[in-house]
Amino acid sequence: MQTCHDARHTTQTLTAPEWWRTAVIYQIYPRSFADASGDGVGDLRGITRRLDDLADLGVDALWLSPFMVSPQKDAGYDVADYCDVDPLFGTLADFDEMLAAAHAREIRIIVDLVPNHSSDQHPWFQEALRAAPGSAERARYIFRDGRGPGGDQPPTNWDSIFGGPAWTRVTEEDGSPGQWYLHLFDSSQPDFNWENEEVREEFRRILRFWLDRGVDGFRVDVAHGMVKDPSFPDWSPNPEAASMGGDSAPAPYWEQPGVHEIYRDWHRLLAEYDGDRALCGEAWVSTIEKTALWVRPDEMHQTFNFHYLETPWEPAALRRIIDDSLRAFGAVGAPSTWVLSNHDVVRHATRLGLTAENPQGTGIGPDFPGLPEPQHALRRARAATALMLALPGSAYLYQGEELGLPEVLDIPDEARQDPTWFRTRGERYGRDGCRVPIPWESDAPAAGFSSSGRSWLPQPEGWGTFARDCQREDAGSTLSLYRRLLEVRRAYGLGEGTLRWLDPGELPGVAEGQSEDVLALSNQDVVVLANFGATPIPLPPGRHVLASSTELVAESGAPDREDRAPLLPQDAVVWLVSPENVPLI
Ligand code: NOJ
Repeated sequence: MQTCHDARHTTQTLTAPEWWRTAVIYQIYPRSFADASGDGVGDLRGITRRLDDLADLGVDALWLSPFMVSPQKDAGYDVADYCDVDPLFGTLADFDEMLAAAHAREIRIIVDLVPNHSSDQHPWFQEALRAAPGSAERARYIFRDGRGPGGDQPPTNWDSIFGGPAWTRVTEEDGSPGQWYLHLFDSSQPDFNWENEEVREEFRRILRFWLDRGVDGFRVDVAHGMVKDPSFPDWSPNPEAASMGGDSAPAPYWEQPGVHEIYRDWHRLLAEYDGDRALCGEAWVSTIEKTALWVRPDEMHQTFNFHYLETPWEPAALRRIIDDSLRAFGAVGAPSTWVLSNHDVVRHATRLGLTAENPQGTGIGPDFPGLPEPQHALRRARAATALMLALPGSAYLYQGEELGLPEVLDIPDEARQDPTWFRTRGERYGRDGCRVPIPWESDAPAAGFSSSGRSWLPQPEGWGTFARDCQREDAGSTLSLYRRLLEVRRAYGLGEGTLRWLDPGELPGVAEGQSEDVLALSNQDVVVLANFGATPIPLPPGRHVLASSTELVAESGAPDREDRAPLLPQDAVVWLVSPENVPLI
């Protein structure tokens, strides 16, 4: 074990240049990660206590979803004070301790920045409510007069991402019906006016506050939505598109060119600091080519590759998006990122087995048509992760995917918390199913999430069987697979490598007509095979197996033949190294 540990930390340390180009970044959703206080909601001290597990997993950095002061109307994405920790999660001292403990383990910390909107409890919004139309206080947000007689129609027909209208009317100080304010999300999340220099200056202050504390970067929430089309035209989205964007005709509040100047400004600000601080944009943009505009050399450093996340488990589609991503990001000198799960989408250990469409953000419940057989979906998820982690660039993991956690479908209605559920009156389940507190110890209260046994979302029956302690020593577990993949990825430098596609038709034993079910590639000295088809394929002879997403099967017949090639079954990925390249680990 000692040697594995050493291998993990030889190629990338806290002083490595531009660490974000190749890093594997693990998303912590603090309220569901580990609860040290026993109140049923995860917290910063809980994270500190579990850092050794993350070091053992082998990740390079953590991204923490918001833990700042917030009424928690959207699980912390409604911030009331950007420069303090919500008591639910601890204190600034707890944050500093966590950061230092992570850095001591050579793990970097990225925090979530929510600049598109604040909470309605933010002092600025409270001041705006008390101030008159046209005042400087209102100009920090997007207030407009209504349409129609008496101004009782919203200024545009825009819908909120969470359902219902995107405008709410206020009552003026004198009790009369007043102006409307824009909220692309919940009515408790008023959008800032990014045309206002005071807003820009305030966010520079907030960036500096966290940079001075030592954070390594920011994940920028709704990075594609901060600037709105100044003409505020009516617009209706394509119902098939992801709720946070990605429509073929961009909405007047997504992808507006004005956002880029903000990121250039932030880029310059981060560059004043040492240590390659980085910005990662959450940008749901219509095409991968446009997504690359967010990571031009003087803008953000990374952006999530949601086009990859949304690609089905099909070889041709995957090859296309991988090529397109490397080309588009490469053209602007940025790394591609890769991601399969996060706190807004159905966990990929369920999603990859679904047969029906489920637009991002909608969520699924027990009545969803075409629910997968869990083992089948998990098998695909493991294969998908093994393919993803073989790719050059930076990869994001979402807490619990290393345990093979599925989406939780049977959350009782009264326990649901996602604003999507409320704003659509239960028509859309929303995102609670991927946010259930994760299991650590199978026999402990709340499966080790909280010593008190409390859990802000109920954990389903059998959750403990996924617990880390059951998987740690099991060589076949999903946790062991992730550890191995990360270990090999680091040792062979796959993050900084170059992808080359191999012709599966030239692999010995791959029958004609079968090659379209196979993806074969090399990166550094590692050869990766992915089999999507029902017929198992033989591994090229003489190769050493570095990692495999599932158990290989034995070739049938001729059991006494010594050169019997192991076979790669359906929905499986294997990493191989040739005998000339002595296994590094
Ligand atoms: C994107 C975040 O990931 C999501 O969880 C949140 O609800 C919206 N932005 C609004 O902040």
